[in-house]
Amino acid sequence: MLEDIIEILEEGNVVALTGAGISTSSGIPDFRSEDGLYKEYGYELFSYEFFKNHPDIFYEYIKKEFPKMYKANYNMSHKLLAELEEMGYLLGVITQNIDDLHNKAGSRNVIELHGNATHFYCEECERKYSFPKEYICSCGGLIRPDIVFFGEPVNDIDRVFELLDKAETLLVMGTSLQVYPASNFPVYVKERGGILIIVNREETQYDNFADFVLHMNVEEFSKKVLKYFEEEFD
Ligand code: OAD
Repeated sequence: MLEDIIEILEEGNVVALTGAGISTSSGIPDFRSEDGLYKEYGYELFSYEFFKNHPDIFYEYIKKEFPKMYKANYNMSHKLLAELEEMGYLLGVITQNIDDLHNKAGSRNVIELHGNATHFYCEECERKYSFPKEYICSCGGLIRPDIVFFGEPVNDIDRVFELLDKAETLLVMGTSLQVYPASNFPVYVKERGGILIIVNREETQYDNFADFVLHMNVEEFSKKVLKYFEEEFD
């Protein structure tokens, strides 16, 4: 099956859709696994309402979890996508992750649907911060991370559909495909005649709908594919 997938990737016009599962091997927890963030913090933490009403509690989470992201290194999955783009096979990456690792790996066309944890800004005066010491700005406004909470619109949706319209293949990696709108992108690409590849440790709701499904560690998958391309172009 891996050979078939590689052949399809070599045909080009690939778009990748990634989620938290591609960064777990970089030491960043995902959301819905046994050791995921929801077990530790609960679902409500990621709603805008909660943030607005309990910024003190949200900042406790930020102070504990965000430094892990800042220190994390990209892994073979991020590297694979950066290289496929460099080689001209991949048009871009749509990620639900806020960890900045696609950028660190050198990907250029990255759409960060849920924002990026390395930037903060004041909701009132829009002053930008890197990592604020206090969560209240000098103007009195609340400083928030530049991430999308539940209940808020995602980023760059027009760019997403421009990219998906060009995709002949959607390569889905490390996401449970449970969160809208990313969960709709596989259907969108398939309905337009595209090929759907899903690489994820656990089943997803679109496994039956996909052309290829690999239930495996996504970094193992990426290592194998990367090895093939590196040998090919040596
Ligand atoms: P989830 O935690 O829902 O799903 C991660 C998926 O990756 C799970 O199905 C895991 O089985 C799989 N996984 C974990 N490690 C893996 C590995 N090494 N190899 C292969 N698969 C692995 O995370 P997302 O789908 O990214 O949004 O979650 C989507 C959104 O839900 C997040 O962006 C976040 C969250 O609420 C917001 O906060 C707005």
